[in-house]
Amino acid sequence: MSESQETLSNLLREKRRFPPPAELAASANVTAAAYDEAAADRLGFWARQAERLSWTKPWDDVLDWSDPPFAKWYVGGELNVAYNCVDRHVEAGRGDKVAYHWEGEPGDTRTLTYADLQREVSKAANALLELGVRNGDRVAVYLPMIPELPISMLACARIGATHSVVFGGFSADALRTRLDDARAKVVITADGGYRRGKPSALKPTVDEAAAAAASVEHVLVVRRTGEDVAVHDRDVWWHDLVDRQSGEHAPEPHDAEHPLYILYTSGTTGKPKGILHTSGGYLTQTAYTHDAVFDLKRDEDVYWCSADIGWVTGHSYIVYGPLANGATSVMYEGTPDTPHQGRWWEIIAKYEVTLFYTAPTAIRTFMKWGDDIPAQYDLTSLRVLGSVGEPINPEAYVWYRHHIGGDRTPVVDTWWQTETGAVMISPLPGVTEGKPGAAMRPLPGIVADVVDDEGRSVPDGGGGFLVLREPWPSMLRTIWGDDERYVKTYWSRFDGMYFAGDGAKRDEDGDLWLLGRVDDVMLVSGHNISTTEVESALVSHPKVAEAAVVGATDPVTGQAIVAFVIPRGSAGADVEGEEFAAELRDHVARTLGPIAKPRQIMVVPELPKTRSGKIMRRLLRDVAENRSVGDVTTLADSTVMDLISAKLPSAKSED
Ligand code: WT7
Repeated sequence: MSESQETLSNLLREKRRFPPPAELAASANVTAAAYDEAAADRLGFWARQAERLSWTKPWDDVLDWSDPPFAKWYVGGELNVAYNCVDRHVEAGRGDKVAYHWEGEPGDTRTLTYADLQREVSKAANALLELGVRNGDRVAVYLPMIPELPISMLACARIGATHSVVFGGFSADALRTRLDDARAKVVITADGGYRRGKPSALKPTVDEAAAAAASVEHVLVVRRTGEDVAVHDRDVWWHDLVDRQSGEHAPEPHDAEHPLYILYTSGTTGKPKGILHTSGGYLTQTAYTHDAVFDLKRDEDVYWCSADIGWVTGHSYIVYGPLANGATSVMYEGTPDTPHQGRWWEIIAKYEVTLFYTAPTAIRTFMKWGDDIPAQYDLTSLRVLGSVGEPINPEAYVWYRHHIGGDRTPVVDTWWQTETGAVMISPLPGVTEGKPGAAMRPLPGIVADVVDDEGRSVPDGGGGFLVLREPWPSMLRTIWGDDERYVKTYWSRFDGMYFAGDGAKRDEDGDLWLLGRVDDVMLVSGHNISTTEVESALVSHPKVAEAAVVGATDPVTGQAIVAFVIPRGSAGADVEGEEFAAELRDHVARTLGPIAKPRQIMVVPELPKTRSGKIMRRLLRDVAENRSVGDVTTLADSTVMDLISAKLPSAKSED
């Protein structure tokens, strides 16, 4: 490969391997045979997976791909998503099985069985009908992590309204943009929720957004905190309207391609993209992957995904996948450090959680807080651990496996996106030998590849762009109201392939390593180096909890590597001086090679992150290049950049 064609370096060498536990392998839901079955007849494989669901009318064709990239899955089939997630479990005699063990941040709890859920969803569906919501209308949902959130989503699905859940941390302006784009008729919200030990208001944000959004006719308000709120003509209390409804509602069948939900993702520029997911294919793949990737044993496992339902992870793996499978889940309202830094581990011990799904950013935070915290809790119920959202650094993977999983549990690193709707690349816990940091293989039925600049597959050992070569059931169908942007954003970089925006490498064994967004790749002396690899090398130093790396313009090398580092709680006080920076630079040079040695290392107390936990490297690039810091409105904590800038005079640099 010539230098200009070189896509992404392949520097990291990770030799640790973790075979699946024998017992898990022996009883695994999915075995290695599934890969061959799916490869031999991909559509036949997906036809069999759709049989997990109850269809009121069978489909005629598995896939219509006659007008790419506009896919139709399970063509002609009809089903009701809420019926599949709730009623059919009750009809099968499992009405008393717990659907959600809900835990409020202040310590209050609610238990919802499938029978409870059927009644509550029916009431909410009847309430929406009374408000004039009809099949095809859009309903925005802006709620904290309380049971009314999944209940509202399922009520929409039940009557064929398309929900648009907006994360409770978004501003009035961001909410209004989303209400306008979807032309939402109703907003479901709450007075507030609990965060960090205090009530955190939501209603004032909705008041401001709804006043400016012409489409909104009603605001349905759940009382959660009991704090005073302003009441407008468009407002109606949940306890006034929903509580008096009948607990019965007959679900109607909808087309397999009926729009189930819109979920907005903020692109790097411009207005947010309304990612549209539909019914039959989405539910099939979320149910299948939840079963396969976590090896879900419906009647034994207690599953907990710590994400917020405001993100796709919560849609697919707190609501639709687990409920379609009739699983028992934990749902938690608050933050991991309230009232103490062991809260999550306390919850796992309390409910004897067996399957746990979280994000690398959380794992690295726990590493920073110290090993002694999880050590105080009995975590022996756990049997599979999952990771999602970012590349998991090998060191964070090993910490997770050891300190949370007691070295017994496989860790599944699951790669997917809001756009893919469900997991695409992941180990199978009973089949795959785990490699710290690698997402390994596309799941059975998924065709992914790593290609070079010209769309040619790279050989084993090569790096490049991650693409999907065949449509998949839970794929986005379009960007809401903007087919052209859908085609341009995802299907125009490489002919006939979906380009996900991520860089990846394929190692000598043919296994996949995700390297983050290609926009984050640095060009150092003609070499493309991924920020992820350098960050992982830094985190593998025993004194480093977290690291973020950016490329800054450099007169000599084109770009130079600048690293921002958070020390571990146990690292001691000697992390401020030049010696520590030199130690880290040498460590990276030893781990990855001299080409990857950072020019500059800054020790910082925090990193700028979006509300879903992704590092905002754009802001760090501003710091590294001595520019004034750009737009910080999507930061989870807008004061972080001040903390970092305050550290600047002491920044150490080497030429
Ligand atoms: C982007 C999608 C998928 C739900 C949460 C995020 C990154 C996600 C991994 C992983 C490396 C990952 C990618 C992807 N990402 N999972 N296991 N390894 N990177 O959804 O907000 O749509 O973000 O997250 O860059 O493109 P999202």
